[in-house]
Amino acid sequence: MDLASLKKNLEKDFSELSSKKELQDLKVKYQGKKGILTNLSKSIKSVKASDRPKVGRDLSEIRNIFEKKLLSALSEIKKRDIQTAINQEKVDISLPASFNSEGQLHPITKTIEKISIFFASRGYLVEDGPEIETEHYNFDALNIPSDHPARDMHDTFYLQGKKLLRTHTSPVQIRAIKKRGAPLRIICPGKVYRSDADKTHTPMFHQIEGLVIDEKINFGHLKKEIMTFIEFFFGPDTESRFRPSYFPFTEPSAEVDIMDEKTKKWLEIMGCGLVHPNVLKIAGVNPRKYSGFAFGLGIERMAKLFYEIDDMRSLYSNDIKFLSQ
Ligand code: PHE
Repeated sequence: MDLASLKKNLEKDFSELSSKKELQDLKVKYQGKKGILTNLSKSIKSVKASDRPKVGRDLSEIRNIFEKKLLSALSEIKKRDIQTAINQEKVDISLPASFNSEGQLHPITKTIEKISIFFASRGYLVEDGPEIETEHYNFDALNIPSDHPARDMHDTFYLQGKKLLRTHTSPVQIRAIKKRGAPLRIICPGKVYRSDADKTHTPMFHQIEGLVIDEKINFGHLKKEIMTFIEFFFGPDTESRFRPSYFPFTEPSAEVDIMDEKTKKWLEIMGCGLVHPNVLKIAGVNPRKYSGFAFGLGIERMAKLFYEIDDMRSLYSNDIKFLSQ
């Protein structure tokens, strides 16, 4: 057996290979019933006994070479086939988009996250408070007199034992001051409840309460903070205004409106003001030393403007068509 020329032939045969069919033919040529390697194996019997070990070694070497080449040729051809398939593939842009069932966060959750990121980056702690509140925290401690219309049965969901579903996140102001003292910077996102239901009101909705207490806090601090926030959330060209208002727990008080570009109407998004000295006193902070500002943002209103939602109720009807828009 001439090992060298056999190797050369092998080399040549494999280098000319270009298809699966040719590969199959090569297999037959070498390993088939009458294949070159098969014949060589058979002929070993007729080799002189003294030459047999050498011929046997040569034979197994050439077999190994053949196997290796076969495997690499096979993977080469596979790769080429795949490449050809990719090259031939055309994207039919008229086909409907494939259905993507990946979930995503609810618009309300996204809005809360966006607002929280802004305030957290300015050093506010994110506080939490109970949704079932006492009359004391929801009203009394906030300087709300016992005959105030907000306490009305028509507006507030009362539970047994002087408990109620909180009508705003403001009770968390008191809880936070009691827990942490002054100075203080907190926000509290959460659910609130009022007996209200129409196109622009749902009985449960979300607010974010904000509270800053420090020495010498004035209305300028409040205004700057809110304006910076509005610029961050809605963009620098957003029209907004502070409108004088009344809340028993702030003095002076204001409401903040944003121009709804869609309807060209002002939309109220929050109440705010300087914390009333009575509230500081009740919570255990000396109003002679400290002052503060507070604000309560309506999250649904923010989401309504941001996502251009017409009917607030669609936020809670769990219609996947609406939510995935
Ligand atoms: N709690 C008020 C409301 O629900 C909003 C508010 C919060 C006003 C903080 C002033 C200060 O309408």
